Amino acid sequence: MTTTTPLPKGELIDQRGRSELEFLQALRVGLAPLRTQVRERLDATGILETPYEDISELRKRVDNELESVQVQRLIGAALSWSRGVATPRAAAAFERRRGELEPLATPIATVIDHIGDDVPRYWDYEFHGTAGGWDGHPHMGFIHHEMIYHYLLEKIFPGDLFAQRGVIAAAAPADSYTNIVDLGCGTGQYTLKLAETYPGAKITAVDLSRTQVQYALRRAEDAGVTITGVHAAAEDTGLPAGEADLVTSFILLHEVPPHTIRQLFVEALRLLKPGGHVHFSDVAPYSQRSPYQAWLDDWDAAHGNEPWWRTAATIDLVKAAADAGFVDINQAAHGPQSYPWVTTARKPE
Ligand SMILES: C[S@@+](CC[C@H](N)C(=O)[O-])C[C@H]1O[C@@H](n2cnc3c(N)ncnc32)[C@H](O)[C@@H]1O
Repeated sequence: MTTTTPLPKGELIDQRGRSELEFLQALRVGLAPLRTQVRERLDATGILETPYEDISELRKRVDNELESVQVQRLIGAALSWSRGVATPRAAAAFERRRGELEPLATPIATVIDHIGDDVPRYWDYEFHGTAGGWDGHPHMGFIHHEMIYHYLLEKIFPGDLFAQRGVIAAAAPADSYTNIVDLGCGTGQYTLKLAETYPGAKITAVDLSRTQVQYALRRAEDAGVTITGVHAAAEDTGLPAGEADLVTSFILLHEVPPHTIRQLFVEALRLLKPGGHVHFSDVAPYSQRSPYQAWLDDWDAAHGNEPWWRTAATIDLVKAAADAGFVDINQAAHGPQSYPWVTTARKPE
């Protein structure tokens, strides 16, 4: 039997790579008290207390108030800069140790290609300020998971950064499933929680980034779990119709334009057997957030290369599910401040 090289315990990247990522982490942590200052200033003006018409009006009102506030400018500049440099620095650290890291980043199983080079137009955008987007390096999945998450995000959000994915996997309506499709699987964090929650289910993990699927497969192999990895657009997976009993996603919807969100429901319906469930979780709708939090989400998204966050936070997902043909549509918050926000529905018998 072929085996993969196990991920060693301890430091994966050189001192320079670690210190660069740790500097970025310290910078982000250092912004927290500045954000508190801005919040206090806004509270003192009372401008968040008047009801707002829509998010553009709220943004205009608060942004005007903050236009000449230097601290807010500093936060914006620091965030944009750190988002722009994190992945290139991690990628450079990977290159300096490519010989050792490549065997740790490569799965035995191969990714099934259902797309070739024919990617949707919106895919060219540099999501999250990363040069080349989700696919900007042949080992971007590994770079995101083992470097950016590990050295930057896990230190900012201590504890199990991915525990919420287990909660969402377990919140699907049926007690058990046998054939699950995970759309927008990334490096497989949610996929592995699905495998833990529904042992024995056939799991197909789909992503538009080939390098993310590749690393999801590798992580599954390291965990002793068998999954099928498919490189495809989630809205047009090329998978057979009527075989799945659960089609699900964790934070995919805010990565795609609104017409694609609608197509995702249509594709989920096609993939499901009669009676099967769709279970999509994503960002909290602005209507469920406080005015401050809605403004901050929208401001962060605009300054963090998140072109579709606003539409995901304002689109009517109940209508999108109903228009696709789903019934028994429910929405619920499964965490603090309405995040993750989950839309669940059933394909009619
Ligand atoms: C925020 S990540 C979430 C990854 C994963 N679900 C998790 O829980 O960590 C979003 C993922 O969606 C993928 N993605 C974006 N647009 C897509 C599309 N149209 N079809 C399939 N995957 C897509 C990105 O490549 C990325 O891996």
